Amino acid sequence: MDLSSKMLEQANNRNCYDKIICQDIIEYLGDDDTSYDLILAADMLTYFGGLNDVFLKFHQRLAVGGLMVFSIETMPENVMASAGFILSPNGRYKHQGEHIVEMLKSTGFDRPELIHPFVLRYEYGEPVDAVMVVAKKIESGKVGQWNAK
Ligand SMILES: C[S@@+](CC[C@H](N)C(=O)[O-])C[C@H]1O[C@@H](n2cnc3c(N)ncnc32)[C@H](O)[C@@H]1O
Repeated sequence: MDLSSKMLEQANNRNCYDKIICQDIIEYLGDDDTSYDLILAADMLTYFGGLNDVFLKFHQRLAVGGLMVFSIETMPENVMASAGFILSPNGRYKHQGEHIVEMLKSTGFDRPELIHPFVLRYEYGEPVDAVMVVAKKIESGKVGQWNAK
């Protein structure tokens, strides 16, 4: 799934997807009633500042025991942001890993983990740091609302 038809054209050329959908992820998951075992968002959530709606939608659509896996750009440790994220000049967001973990826990995910810190790409010769996040849905009834202070 992607908002960009050009990106989907490239995906289609790989001949490995059963279904390709051009839509906003939040909109799509709001209308959809499929229960997924895995939701993978590769280099997509960097376009979101607040992630509460995304996490709630992912949680609603996952089957109990289902996994949510995504990559996120991370902020330098010496930068503080009360919202838990900052907007970069390139229009992408960088997030505080620990803030993400707390949000996921309060949304009803079990032991979210930040794994595999890696360099996503280089911009103007500088590394863009990122991390993979894995979280498991444990109970279908337990959906919390994250309130940023
Ligand atoms: C850096 S690309 C990564 C594309 C692909 N997932 C990959 O790993 O190669 C980020 C993609 O996220 C898509 N995107 C951003 N916001 C989105 C949203 N709300 N719903 C669906 N796709 C979105 C953009 O259109 C863009 O193609």
